[in-house]
Amino acid sequence: MTERITLVVDGKSTDVSADPAMPLLYALRSELGLDNPKFGCGLAQCGACTVQVDGRPTRSCVTPVSGVKGKKITTLNGLGTSNRPHPLQTAYIAEQVPQCGYCLSGWMLTAAALLRDTPKPSDKQIRQALAGVKCRCGTHMAILRAVKRAAGSKA
Ligand code: FES
Ligand code: FES
Repeated sequence: MTERITLVVDGKSTDVSADPAMPLLYALRSELGLDNPKFGCGLAQCGACTVQVDGRPTRSCVTPVSGVKGKKITTLNGLGTSNRPHPLQTAYIAEQVPQCGYCLSGWMLTAAALLRDTPKPSDKQIRQALAGVKCRCGTHMAILRAVKRAAGSKA
């Protein structure tokens, strides 16, 4: 049975008509046409579907859409704009991180939360925070450099 559910995504409030148990990822992609959170494993194991919910990195593939009613959902679209990019976005370009880009939501939204809470993280803190995110293209060392660059450290 479907229900009308109000979501606040990247600062905009919008209604979706969905089964309350539907994964948030499906609502974002299929109902709202947002294609930056990706379907990878569907099991909370890879991070490709990550969004922030009230600032916390969240696996949208295993989060029921009814569980985020009224909460602030941030996707990559809400992280920065081409005119005002997030420091991580600038650093990703400078370090030429992306290959296929499938994993970007996981790395960037997780790292953005880390830098908000810990502006100058150590290598160990960066590795711990990002430990659950996977990149099949093997960009891990470039990501580490980009997070350090965004934090104002030398790579
Ligand atoms: S698709 Fe959600 S963690 Fe892999
Ligand atoms: S850049 Fe391809 S999966 Fe990470």
